[in-house]
Amino acid sequence: MRINKFLAELGVGSRRAIDKMIEEKKIKVNGVLAESGIKVDKTDNIVINGRPLNFERKKKVYFMLNKPKRVLSTAKDERGRKTVVDLIDTKERIFPIGRLDYDTEGLILLTNDGEVFNKVIHPRTEVYKTYLVEARGNINMSTLNKLKRGIMLDDKITLPAKAKIILADEKHTVLHFAIKEGRNRQVRRMFESVGHNVINLKRIMLGELNLDGLEIGEYRPLTKKEINYLYSL
Ligand code: URA
Repeated sequence: MRINKFLAELGVGSRRAIDKMIEEKKIKVNGVLAESGIKVDKTDNIVINGRPLNFERKKKVYFMLNKPKRVLSTAKDERGRKTVVDLIDTKERIFPIGRLDYDTEGLILLTNDGEVFNKVIHPRTEVYKTYLVEARGNINMSTLNKLKRGIMLDDKITLPAKAKIILADEKHTVLHFAIKEGRNRQVRRMFESVGHNVINLKRIMLGELNLDGLEIGEYRPLTKKEINYLYSL
């Protein structure tokens, strides 16, 4: 099998990432630098970044969960409370990518692939997370613009956000609100700071991925296309 396909199937990285590693002379096969396009199999001695390849690598798995409220988005809880990992039936040791508050519902990804984890949570990754926010009171345009331009939180202004009002009356405002960062309780604190407490918060998109068709508490494996998208970040 061609080396990039062979290593991608073992979860080393995307084919493109592997081609790049070959270009950067990071892969040796049977003691010599690998050339792109060569064919390899399990009998070859493959060394990546100076480390011999482990053929027993675990299969990489990727899930999208529609997290219910009152579930923790950690892998384990000392107090025995339910976590997002408990909701997924898999033998692999998976962990959530990023966090949602205990009382926030919606899209969360889980994987055993550390490379994808790093890509998604790295601050340089330009990926918007979109939330459906229900906030108290009627948010006027000037307040909305403040939220979009940035709010001072912990002595640091938040990065520009995108917002689209879906519905508003005197009592509450429902909007789509998209941010690139993932600071602690960021959306809730941003809205609190302009006097509109968040009543309900749900993450509906992460970059191009969306929750369409998943009921609360349901999950599904990511498609090949979605996994490639995460690798492209
Ligand atoms: N912002 C919040 O305030 N809470 C979340 O769970 C996610 C983003």
